[in-house]
Amino acid sequence: MKLKVCVIGGAGYIGSHTVYELIRDGHEVVIIDNLSTGSRDFIHKDAKFYFGDITNKQELKNIFNIECSVKPFDVVMHFAAKLIVPESVSIPLEYYYNNVEGVRIMLEVMKDFNIKNVVFSSTAAVYGEAINPICSENDPTIPINPYGETKLASEKLIKWVCQRYDMNYCIFRYFNVAGAIDTLEIGLNKDNLTHIIPITVQTALGIRDEMTIFGNDYDTPDGTCIRDYIHVSDLADAHVLGAKYLVKNNKSLLVNLGSNKGYSVLEIIKEVEKFYPVNYKIGKRRAGDPAKLIASNDKAKEILGWLPKRNLEQIIKSDIEYRKKLNNLK
Ligand SMILES: NC(=O)c1ccc[n+]([C@@H]2O[C@H](COP(=O)([O-])OP(=O)(O)OC[C@H]3O[C@@H](n4cnc5c(N)ncnc54)[C@H](O)[C@@H]3O)[C@@H](O)[C@H]2O)c1
Repeated sequence: MKLKVCVIGGAGYIGSHTVYELIRDGHEVVIIDNLSTGSRDFIHKDAKFYFGDITNKQELKNIFNIECSVKPFDVVMHFAAKLIVPESVSIPLEYYYNNVEGVRIMLEVMKDFNIKNVVFSSTAAVYGEAINPICSENDPTIPINPYGETKLASEKLIKWVCQRYDMNYCIFRYFNVAGAIDTLEIGLNKDNLTHIIPITVQTALGIRDEMTIFGNDYDTPDGTCIRDYIHVSDLADAHVLGAKYLVKNNKSLLVNLGSNKGYSVLEIIKEVEKFYPVNYKIGKRRAGDPAKLIASNDKAKEILGWLPKRNLEQIIKSDIEYRKKLNNLK
């Protein structure tokens, strides 16, 4: 099955990896991105690129007009969100506008052009302070910050619109994403990194002087928080499967993408220390960090036949190799 896929936010970290995987699998890809946090360097040479902002309906309509007059999109994928939690607390209006209004306009244009399938990037942040240590899709969704709220609001909007206009959605709730494509052409390259694996790797490589563990008095075996880590290329695989599922089955789905396994912050540091020493200190807990957050991926396995192929060691090795390449380190 060869699909024509519109990837909104395809110049960002997860979007670009998904584009690479879609093209590798033989699909036609059109990227729309405003490059606010993405990069031209991440755009696959075989994808068609439009510089555009999805909060601008006319701009989006113009692109759909050009593309859909040749061949309509089979699937639209949405990665185009702002996603830094503390920033969402300080500028909530901008977060709602970009994340929710962007989705609303995308759905309106999809409806106008009779495009039936949407794949949406959601997040474990919709669960808030998860009640169960292993999260399943039916667990309560009680976000504790504006970022999580905007993703939950977008999920709900997508569900209602799909129900009303006979469309299908595939909503993926990701857990902690890390790593880079095997060829190291693309990866997570941002100024203000907030993810634990790249921060630990940067410290190990001497790009940062030290790192802080936020709390070692949690109710976990070593006192540090436990999270579920997933390789970005495994996420990309899931998106290709999700797109094909929608087109083939004409049915919607919402699934977690995680590994069913958790690792503590100290375990991450130990894993990195197999390669290089890490200079870390213990700090205070941060507000709103649950002790343990792991995804049940049973549903993704059952419906999509998806399971992550890369383990923690492979995720960390890939991040190390990518950061060495970025910083010209041997
Ligand atoms: N990175 C993670 O750990 C993580 C975890 C859970 C969920 N997510 C979700 O995955 C998606 C992608 O995250 P990422 O890490 O790749 O982020 P990213 O910032 O690298 O990518 C987002 C892309 O969307 C573009 N964009 C943003 N607003 C836009 C707009 N209005 N119009 C057009 N383009 C726009 C940006 O320029 C960028 O290229 C987001 O929706 C995020 O909520 C990410």
